[in-house]
Amino acid sequence: MKNSTLMIWAVLALVIGIVGMFVVSGLFGGSSPAGTFASTGQQIYYTGATDSGPIPRTVAGGGMTGVGMMGNMACVDCHGEDGRGGRVGMMFGSVDIPDIRYSTLSVTHSEEGTTHPAWTDSDIARAIRDGVEPDGESLKAPMPRWAMTDAEVADVISYLKELSAR
Ligand code: HEC
Repeated sequence: MKNSTLMIWAVLALVIGIVGMFVVSGLFGGSSPAGTFASTGQQIYYTGATDSGPIPRTVAGGGMTGVGMMGNMACVDCHGEDGRGGRVGMMFGSVDIPDIRYSTLSVTHSEEGTTHPAWTDSDIARAIRDGVEPDGESLKAPMPRWAMTDAEVADVISYLKELSAR
């Protein structure tokens, strides 16, 4: 009797776990309906995609992230709705995510104890596209490298400017 009750609880826990995983991947799916964003920059920030589809990306060390949960993560999932970043819990532990508001990046700022000089728009574009900081240091995983067009990168930078006010 006691054993079968335990068994039922075990099965229930398993089912809840599996449903939970779907809920989480739904949350990180970044699949908000098109047309609900004020700008393309905001759409990219929230979905990692434009009306023409997802922006191709790779992760540090190569390899496509076109599939699975990581592949669908957009800026907002890591850097947050306000762009301030923080400590985010992920499958592989917690990660420190930098503040990427334009108001922070465009002035002398410190990140993980290192002081960075003010970044220009092209420094920001290079970080987003090539994953390289102005001093040549590579951005660590899980920051993806985004194959954005000049127009897309400019749209994202204007959205980072909007976030500055928040
Ligand atoms: C899966 C998580 C993740 C996603 C998605 C992500 N980032 Fe990042 N990003 C990071 C992490 C982590 C760093 C810090 C890497 C380091 O310190 O080396 C970073 C660094 C940056 C930096 C450099 C800031 C600095 O001070 O070093 C910029 C700019 C940036 N991200 C912009 C973006 C934009 C724009 C998007 C969406 C198009 C995006 N990121 C999506 C995790 C992410």
